[in-house]
Amino acid sequence: MKTLQYKSPSVKGTIKVPGDKSISHRSIMFGAIAEGTTKVTGFLKGDDCLATIDCFRKMGVQITENGDEILIEGKGFSGLKEPEEVLYTGNSGTTTRLLLGILAGRPFHSVVTGDESIAKRPMNRVTDPLREMGARIDGRDDGNLTPLSIRGGALHAFRYELPVASAQLKSALILAGLQSEEDTIIVEPQKTRDHTEKMIRHFGGNIKREGSTITVSGHQSFKAKHVQVPGDISSAAFFLTAAAVTKNSSLLLKKVGINDTRTGIIEVLKQMNADFEVTPVNHDEEPIGEISIKSSKLNACTVDGDLIPKLIDEIPIIALLATQANGKTVIKDAEELKVKETNRIDAVVEELKKLGADIEATDDGMIIQGPTQLTGAETDSRGDHRIGMMLAVASLITNGEVHIKNPECISVSYPEFFEDLESVTS
Ligand code: S3P
Repeated sequence: MKTLQYKSPSVKGTIKVPGDKSISHRSIMFGAIAEGTTKVTGFLKGDDCLATIDCFRKMGVQITENGDEILIEGKGFSGLKEPEEVLYTGNSGTTTRLLLGILAGRPFHSVVTGDESIAKRPMNRVTDPLREMGARIDGRDDGNLTPLSIRGGALHAFRYELPVASAQLKSALILAGLQSEEDTIIVEPQKTRDHTEKMIRHFGGNIKREGSTITVSGHQSFKAKHVQVPGDISSAAFFLTAAAVTKNSSLLLKKVGINDTRTGIIEVLKQMNADFEVTPVNHDEEPIGEISIKSSKLNACTVDGDLIPKLIDEIPIIALLATQANGKTVIKDAEELKVKETNRIDAVVEELKKLGADIEATDDGMIIQGPTQLTGAETDSRGDHRIGMMLAVASLITNGEVHIKNPECISVSYPEFFEDLESVTS
């Protein structure tokens, strides 16, 4: 249990949030399937990404830490060996689903399992199309739930319209497609984060996109590269909110990834009339910027449609922002929240209600009426890192203590979260 109490704090100074989780996972995966030594700087040493490292080590890939750098000795797809042990993916949906795509094309047997949250998350969105491509996969609920057993091998030509906008699903099929005999064609219903596509180009491979159609050719090989992981905008979102909702605040966030498939939170801050500025600082494959933000007088807004995949992980903290915005904020088209680390519609609504928020769940999102003075209460992260961080940020504006059950889960994506929060609050 963590107890937090702040008395009218301000959020001030400069902060550099840890590396992007999605990019960190992919840096290990591409480092492992490339040939040569890949160096990764800015890697997120959170539990999720450490689980990815562990899985690749179990497939014979040498991965070492050298101070702040991670070194991966890649030997191509064919360098991956049949693991002697179960591949344990912890709490990480990205590790589980992307790994399935890689394993689908490998001519060996493996077993993938994760923690109790992963055990409840749907895997058939990935296992069904991978089976159609030619992989043999089995598991509980006819291959929908972990533990999953995979016997990979030759994969054939495949065209698939994704039934849900999911970067994990898209990436799993791309990773299988890279090993296929022929072309793989994937059609996305809405644009989702494109880190896998960018990583392919960075490592010298090719992938085409025309409108919503992605084409990947098979039998690709990659050359080792240096990957510089930008700060995670999904982690930055907690500090952007902390500064916007507290008085006399002024915060500078350095080296944040501002890939436009991830910047939905910036669009929401704009719509809410927040006082902030984004300054791009490079023009690399993965763009990086600085964001400065001050205490803001917020207006309610509507969050829906194509914006949802660009901020899917930020909805818990956007709900908190909305409790401080003037008017009715409506979040819709976000059914996917029900199959995240927790059912995030229920978790956000029930936990924020404990703090006195005026918030109601809907079938595909939530409706929040603001502004509301929040009050202290006993809350529960429910083992979901983003719920835990949202509740910690909420404690900055409650009158009374906020107790958070199971705060340890925050180490999944942000091991130094409480230290960083402490360092910018006064
Ligand atoms: C991720 C994709 C998203 C996101 C998750 C990371 C990725 O999941 O919620 O935190 O790295 O590809 P979905 O693909 O299930 O939407």
